[in-house]
Amino acid sequence: MEATENIVLEAQEEAQGAESSRALYEIKMKFLGRTGKVTALLKGMREIPANERPAFGKKVNDIREKLEALFAALEERMKEKELAEKLAGEEIDVTMPARRHQKGALHPITRTKSELIDIFAGMGFEVFEGPEIENEYYNFTALNTPADHPARDMQDTFYITEEFLLRTQTSAGQIRLMEKKKPPIKMLSPGKVFRSDDDATHSPMFHQMEGLVVDKNITMCDLQGMLNEFARTMFAESSKTRLRPSYFPFTEPSVEVDVSCTACGGKGCSLCKGTGWIEVLGAGMVNRHVLENCGVDPDEYTGFAFGMGIERIAMLKYGINHIRSFTENDVRFLEEFKD
Ligand code: DAH
Repeated sequence: MEATENIVLEAQEEAQGAESSRALYEIKMKFLGRTGKVTALLKGMREIPANERPAFGKKVNDIREKLEALFAALEERMKEKELAEKLAGEEIDVTMPARRHQKGALHPITRTKSELIDIFAGMGFEVFEGPEIENEYYNFTALNTPADHPARDMQDTFYITEEFLLRTQTSAGQIRLMEKKKPPIKMLSPGKVFRSDDDATHSPMFHQMEGLVVDKNITMCDLQGMLNEFARTMFAESSKTRLRPSYFPFTEPSVEVDVSCTACGGKGCSLCKGTGWIEVLGAGMVNRHVLENCGVDPDEYTGFAFGMGIERIAMLKYGINHIRSFTENDVRFLEEFKD
């Protein structure tokens, strides 16, 4: 009987010290489990004189009920405590500043290319992209630049084999398109070009935008009108253009096109070296040999072509000094082009 009294105290003491549901459960099993102390008391009944058994049995049952109530109460408290701890651990501070998402931006070359395409698409030009690996025929020969022609030296070429090379100019696209499509043609051909060249304004890989218009009665006036429209939309409403005689094997006559200086508007500054003009592209009337090479009758059709460096246009438009800026991928530079 005495031992039974102690069991309740013992259980109370141990159970109150439990620090987790798991620990509490183990203590409960120690007393009320199949091999627990209270169960052992019931099993020991046989050894008690028969006349004392009812009183003893009642006592043990009382103890069991007490302990069950004790553990139920403690379990309830423990659950509440653990839930409170869990919630506290998961607490969200809704006033905390949000983590910033890095927002990307289009690369200035991509952006300039899209702007150019937009301008010319508005005038009815279609985009045609030729391959970056070309053969001599498309890059030179068909463009009226045969093997022994001095103009081949104008562009330092990366050869892959005797025949294949990295295209030095998007002009190659003119031939590819005219072989496929008969006039009227209004083509815009953007892409990468490659030359063995490297300084502040030249890089071994850069981008060009080629334009080609072939139809009946196309004249130099059409070329200049379109260039004016291009300059006004790309640079400033007040931009003007000027044509200077030049030489390209695939055009005759050939011109170099200047726009009024993008920095000073034509007054003369360090960018335009005091002249008020900046060279932006090469152009001309498509040489009749080029038309013939593509099966287009030069007595029926005429055309003009132009080619510009996209890096150069971007440098002028955004005031960029060094062509390397485009390939260094300095985030501080690229971030300037966020909308
Ligand atoms: N292909 C020339 C170059 O890379 C640029 C050029 C000049 C393209 C005159 C043309 C043109 O279509 O008519 O320097």
